Amino acid sequence: MSAPEVLIFGAGAVGAFYGSRLAHAGAPVSAVCRSNYAAVKASGFSIASPQFGEYSWTPTRVFPSAAEAVAAGVRWSFIVVTTKALPDVSDDSALLDGLVGPGTAIVLVQNGLGVEEPYRQRFPHAAILSAVTVVSASQPSPGRIDHNRWTRINIGPFLPDVSDGEETHAATAQAREFARLLVAGGVKDASAYSHRKLQQVRWHKIAINASFNPSSVLSNGTSNRAMAEDPELAEHVRGVMDEVLTTAPKVLGAPFPAEFASADSILASTRRNVSGSRPSMWGDWEAGRPMEIEVIIGNPIRLARAKGLEMPRMQTLYALIKMAQANRDALRKSQSRL
Ligand SMILES: NC(=O)c1ccc[n+]([C@@H]2O[C@H](COP(=O)([O-])OP(=O)(O)OC[C@H]3O[C@@H](n4cnc5c(N)ncnc54)[C@H](OP(=O)(O)O)[C@@H]3O)[C@@H](O)[C@H]2O)c1
Repeated sequence: MSAPEVLIFGAGAVGAFYGSRLAHAGAPVSAVCRSNYAAVKASGFSIASPQFGEYSWTPTRVFPSAAEAVAAGVRWSFIVVTTKALPDVSDDSALLDGLVGPGTAIVLVQNGLGVEEPYRQRFPHAAILSAVTVVSASQPSPGRIDHNRWTRINIGPFLPDVSDGEETHAATAQAREFARLLVAGGVKDASAYSHRKLQQVRWHKIAINASFNPSSVLSNGTSNRAMAEDPELAEHVRGVMDEVLTTAPKVLGAPFPAEFASADSILASTRRNVSGSRPSMWGDWEAGRPMEIEVIIGNPIRLARAKGLEMPRMQTLYALIKMAQANRDALRKSQSRL
């Protein structure tokens, strides 16, 4: 059997890191780039990692756009979407038209909730795999990837309408194959989960992202550790986390697994974090880029409301961060006209 052809769609920090590990496992891995296209086409990626050291990765093919990837006529086994999830800015699922063929699995390695839905609607016959990672990675310059910490990634089939037979569903087998490839590429803590458990992981990560990310921006760039150490901010962050952690089981119809961390233990481990790092939403805010507000804060609120549940702390953050972004963008626009 030939090795599965993998296409990384949006090869930034996360896409290049996991793409390089899949390539290490022996898969031909290609990449659709955008602002880093010229650099990656010329010299590939150079990656620095505490686990894997300094290494370079040259994708099998490098494309400047999805249209160019379509023109290559490759039969993709996995299309790994690692763009930022910005449904209020663009529907990236439309860019995969012509790339998804029989047997293609679309793997969404993105933060947030509801990221699968546009892909499921556009490609009802394709396997949609949902993936959550806790990796910490960045791209400080085009083609240069800093893998800072952690590798864990969980992958599950997205099968919201399948109550029986998930075990024998093709998407379940594809999720396991994708996890197997990552493990073979050195990502020892890659593992395949069921649809339900993967959605539980997504909600659990929302507790962290939806509390720390906007709070950092709204408090003018406070680091995660400083938020966990400041008494008032810690109380606020704990309140948001608790709100998400108590609402999610009601939305999902099942309690969280006992091993999932509580708000207090997340705060305690954040206090031990000596890196002084800030959430990526702060980086997006500072650089004037759109923030993943809708998938991290808006969609959880909407999913809860669909079940008759309100999350007032989340709603407050949503209203404030959305308006902060609108005001920032309006100011930049008016300044650029001067
Ligand atoms: N970085 C982390 O440590 C981390 C950890 C956990 C989860 N995540 C999640 O993983 C996802 C990816 O994050 P990231 O940090 O890897 O973001 P990133 O570094 O900004 O990478 C996204 C890449 O996608 C490219 N892209 C966007 N639209 C494109 C298009 N239409 N065609 C081709 N390329 C396109 C971007 O190009 P441009 O440079 O032109 O914008 C960029 O290179 C996000 O949902 C994030 O929340 C990230």
